[in-house]
Amino acid sequence: MNTEMRLQGKTAIVTGAGGGIGGATAHRFASEGATVILVDIDAVRCREVLGQIVGSGGQASCAIVDLTSETQVVELFSNVLREHGRLDILVNIAGGDCEPAASVEEIDPERAMKNLDMNLKSCMLCCREAVKIMKPQGHGRIVNMSSLVYRGSPNQFSYSASKGGIFSFTRSIAIALGGFNITANALAPALVEVDAFVRALGPDRWKMLAEASAERYPLKRIAKPEDVAGAALFFASDDASFITGQILEISGGARL
Ligand SMILES: NC(=O)c1ccc[n+]([C@@H]2O[C@H](COP(=O)([O-])OP(=O)(O)OC[C@H]3O[C@@H](n4cnc5c(N)ncnc54)[C@H](O)[C@@H]3O)[C@@H](O)[C@H]2O)c1
Repeated sequence: MNTEMRLQGKTAIVTGAGGGIGGATAHRFASEGATVILVDIDAVRCREVLGQIVGSGGQASCAIVDLTSETQVVELFSNVLREHGRLDILVNIAGGDCEPAASVEEIDPERAMKNLDMNLKSCMLCCREAVKIMKPQGHGRIVNMSSLVYRGSPNQFSYSASKGGIFSFTRSIAIALGGFNITANALAPALVEVDAFVRALGPDRWKMLAEASAERYPLKRIAKPEDVAGAALFFASDDASFITGQILEISGGARL
């Protein structure tokens, strides 16, 4: 039996680690032997996840950072280089939608820009700083969080634009960085069961949304954060060493 851990000896940054998908990814990476730096703007939730990981024997630390701030992102990566001396894996998960369910006529420039900042700008800044460490190492794995709405959405305009942008950006850096043995891939989940939705919608509306979505998906359920964490692990591991510039739909077959 092969019991080897898939990320043994690797140093990984997981952003959005205080959230549902980021938390599950940080847990999974730590359980596969990585030293994980959990990054989030939400100190309480991030430290909660850190406590669980460390409590179950994982190697981890956390950094409270607003990833839309260039200064804070630069500081984060310089601290990681100083403390760990390397960075093997960057998983950009932080993000969200602050303009959901608006009609085209209701697009609000401020909220639209916030979506672009929170999703796309934060991802670009983190990739830029990570590459400064990964290039001299001659090795790196970048996994960016898109969404199934990269294909388009009837009511998430700035959000889908930001997630489509993340896919194009990921392909572009994959082309530019392949010669340095750095891969870059993107994740595109359909609806994932996270607490943030229950908090935002309330349990009843959430239940209706989850059930209606599950009914439409061929696998007849929505995703769990662990489904996405498994896909992130694949892209971050040696199993995906010849895969770059791709987007992986974690969708239970939605929109086939
Ligand atoms: N849940 C879904 O159905 C779904 C589907 C497709 C894609 N996604 C994407 O997955 C990612 C994670 O979402 P989730 O569902 O786990 O939601 P979540 O709200 O639980 O997690 C998002 C995390 O990002 C953090 N964050 C937001 N802005 C930040 C900033 N400026 N700096 C640092 N941290 C910041 C939040 O504090 C939060 O902990 C997001 O990018 C989201 O767009 C989610």
